[in-house]
Amino acid sequence: MGPLVIGMVGLPARGKTFVASQMSRYLAWQGVRAQIFNVGNRRRALFGAKVPHGFFDPSNPNGMASRREAAQATMDEVLAFFADGGEVAFYDATNTTHSRRSWVREVCSQNGIQVAFVELSCDDNDIIERNIRQTKLFSPDYTGVQADEAVADFRRRIDHYSTVYEPLGDGDPAWVRLVDAGRQFILTDPERVIPRRLTDYLANLSAVPRTIWVTRHGQSEFNTSGQLGGDSPLSPAGQRYAHSLGEFFRPRPVSRVWSSTLRRARQTASALGTTHSPRRALDEIDAGVCDGLTYAEIAARRPNEFAARQADKLGYRYPGGESYADVIERLDPMVLDLERTRGPVLLVAHQAIIRSLLGYFLDIPREEIPHVDVPLHTVIALHPHGPGYREERFPLDPRL
Ligand code: SIN
Repeated sequence: MGPLVIGMVGLPARGKTFVASQMSRYLAWQGVRAQIFNVGNRRRALFGAKVPHGFFDPSNPNGMASRREAAQATMDEVLAFFADGGEVAFYDATNTTHSRRSWVREVCSQNGIQVAFVELSCDDNDIIERNIRQTKLFSPDYTGVQADEAVADFRRRIDHYSTVYEPLGDGDPAWVRLVDAGRQFILTDPERVIPRRLTDYLANLSAVPRTIWVTRHGQSEFNTSGQLGGDSPLSPAGQRYAHSLGEFFRPRPVSRVWSSTLRRARQTASALGTTHSPRRALDEIDAGVCDGLTYAEIAARRPNEFAARQADKLGYRYPGGESYADVIERLDPMVLDLERTRGPVLLVAHQAIIRSLLGYFLDIPREEIPHVDVPLHTVIALHPHGPGYREERFPLDPRL
């Protein structure tokens, strides 16, 4: 993919860095070399964190020159990233004027890089106030400053930007606007510069924070014999786990339960006593010709396959089956569905599936995804945390 610069656009405290981080995490999960370049960080490195709001006043020539310098230095980093094989760079700045955006386009076009803009527009005072209090007060710009004083200063900084703000429009060829944290979505991209997966992703982002729960099915009969795949039912220990899971969720209602279509996952989900939807996308990695074998049998009967998988667990595809990279691709629509949901959701799935989903939610490097520890009989909560998630684990049955 790329080279492509996505320039963020919008007044301060509209969630630009938040959305850029989400997009970057999503692309990285899919194997795209994506990175965020934040002009505010560069400005702090060049001129120190503590600058008064007057620094951002467009009629302050020194402030303007310094900000141009920070913008240029950040663009130099973007160009170095592409020279090193980068694919998508998020140029995370306010980019609020036509002239700044023209400059971004000009530099990029001189270097053979395409440009699109993503604008976050929001006039809802409650959302803005929340963004300031949840993020800006913790910025190095306001270390040691009283909260109310910091909010007042930041609001004056926003006022400076507002006097020159020119929203995206006719002069900007490829752009997306997200209004009021997902209430409205506008796309203008006649040349199809923005990859469809990014516009699909942005269109599905929900601003409602909620916990996503995931668990493997209870222990299956194949688990007890160490066999891969298959469609065996739960073992007695697995049935006990299913029961404990029902107890665990009684005081923690979820709005949806999705399981795989395999027997062990459906049996586990049934114990919750609510309806659940079996979804094929959540079925375990397809072990192809190795389905039903144990690892020892694969090592003995197919030593080359065994060694190839050990060497590259992400890319290795079982003959007639799937690789982890295939599973990640298969789960892409599921991730969009999860991003759309508004209430807490529980997924009852399988080891490779949960590893792959944790890769997305916890921003785990792709090569590490096939090695993430996902034991049986453990509920994993994914709680919203900044632009990503943090996990909390609940082992339910210590006897196993
Ligand atoms: C900042 O210095 O915090 C933001 C710079 C910009 O306006 O893009």
